[in-house]
Amino acid sequence: MNYPSIKNHTNMKMEKALIITIDGPSGVGKSTVAKSVAKRLGLTYLDTGAMYRAIALQVKRNPLNIDNEEELLSLLRNTEIEFVNNKENNLILTLNNENITDKIRSPEISRLSSDVATKSLVRKKLVEIQRKIGLNGNIVVEGRDMGTYVFPDADFKFYLDATLEERAKRRSNQLREAGQSIGVDNITKEIELRDKQDKERLESPLHPAPNAVIINTTNLIADDVINRIIAEVKGE
Ligand code: DC
Repeated sequence: MNYPSIKNHTNMKMEKALIITIDGPSGVGKSTVAKSVAKRLGLTYLDTGAMYRAIALQVKRNPLNIDNEEELLSLLRNTEIEFVNNKENNLILTLNNENITDKIRSPEISRLSSDVATKSLVRKKLVEIQRKIGLNGNIVVEGRDMGTYVFPDADFKFYLDATLEERAKRRSNQLREAGQSIGVDNITKEIELRDKQDKERLESPLHPAPNAVIINTTNLIADDVINRIIAEVKGE
């Protein structure tokens, strides 16, 4: 892997492992972009939203009052989340050793993941795992609070945004490709609700880090966004 002008970044020490954060709201295309940036730069890819989705699945399977800290803590103690990247750089996520990769993308889990993400016990557990993985560096991490809270000293921070209408359209296409057909109106409502909850929660709410590069992707195709991020990282 070759970073031609990486030395131009005076705040980056060459011996330090690289961390690139990509944050933004639901449906903006973070996963597509982050996965591709990681692949092209030969870095590991970490989807932190999938971790919140894993907790949501665990809550769905073991119904409890998530406002009750004792109940939630006891569930979290019995929840082991791990993941590995396969050869195609796709995330294989396990919950207590079960491969749940294909079980966390439903609208119900999307909603529930945003709910559990408001709970500090959940965030504490997941942030600890995320930072442990990040210690090794050479990673592209995507989520809501990567640049603001989990990796405040990351080498490069990006915040992707797009209009609600465009994000709903993208999500609808994505679901259709995965064989699920849900009307754009319903998706719009769901994204709007999640936006509100993710941006207004007390703990690590979604907002751009002060030093993040903000990219409005509304009128861009994924390749444009990917190329822009790679150019920034290479200092082109
Ligand atoms: O990126 P996603 O749609 O898979 O994320 C699902 C939910 O998880 C999202 O609504 C908010 C939460 N989340 C979070 O609070 N912090 C992160 N770093 C990633 C996701």
